[in-house]
Amino acid sequence: MKKSKQPAKAVARASAPPNGTNHHGFLISFEGSEGSGKSTQIAHLAEQLQAAGRRVFSTREPGGTEIGEQVRNIIVHNSKGDEMCAETELLLFAASRAQLVREVIAPKLIKGVIVVCDRYIDSSTVYQGVARSLSLDPVQQINQFAVGDVLPDLTIVLDVPTRVSLARIQQRASDLPNRMERENIDFYKKVREGYLVLARSMPKRFFVVDGTLPEKKVRKVIWEEVRNRISL
Ligand SMILES: Nc1ncnc2c1ncn2[C@@H]1O[C@H](COP(=O)(O)OP(=O)(O)OP(=O)(O)O)[C@@H](O)[C@H]1O
Ligand SMILES: [Mg+2]
Repeated sequence: MKKSKQPAKAVARASAPPNGTNHHGFLISFEGSEGSGKSTQIAHLAEQLQAAGRRVFSTREPGGTEIGEQVRNIIVHNSKGDEMCAETELLLFAASRAQLVREVIAPKLIKGVIVVCDRYIDSSTVYQGVARSLSLDPVQQINQFAVGDVLPDLTIVLDVPTRVSLARIQQRASDLPNRMERENIDFYKKVREGYLVLARSMPKRFFVVDGTLPEKKVRKVIWEEVRNRISL
């Protein structure tokens, strides 16, 4: 019989679901539609946290690991992307996330690092569950399977109307049009509404910010909230 070449460490990691309850770090996820300002604000927040003497690590989804970046390429740059069914998309996001949480997020949290993640479980709930109309039960079960109990301590939603989102995307001349950005207006409306419904259902975890405010103002509002939550 052929012997498995899988290293012992990888087996151990695979058999242990990530546990988020015993860590001393803090997990912040940023959510919102394309162009809502997530990357901009994550960069600001990471800078502010560092300046306050906290260890911080920013990462993104899908991606953030070598395997995850390969998955990201399939999802984002697939030229025949329109043919990808919603179920495949959901599983690819979950695959990238499962790797990220075990390889990066959980180990950082255990070391006390503040992890800031550009999209996390709520993106699957909203994009695949709400906007692509997959049944929410399997989406949530797959989310749970992927992340164990490594849930965000705080989720910041940057809320912008669809027209603002689209206008900002169109201004990014350097962007190749990708699969997500070819979606129609209705899709973005569902995404926006999906986030707002989620936020209302979990007010303790979610913090919704008006993403149409000037960048500096958004930064200030987010910083106030984060400072309160982590007692800086
Ligand atoms: N508060 C703001 N007001 C006006 N423009 C903004 C604001 N925040 C960000 N922008 C601009 O909007 C564009 C999109 O911002 P950004 O890339 O941060 O969004 P994103 O949510 O990360 O998008 P994506 O989901 O596509 O990665 C950028 O050109 C950025 O400079
Ligand atoms: Mg971004």
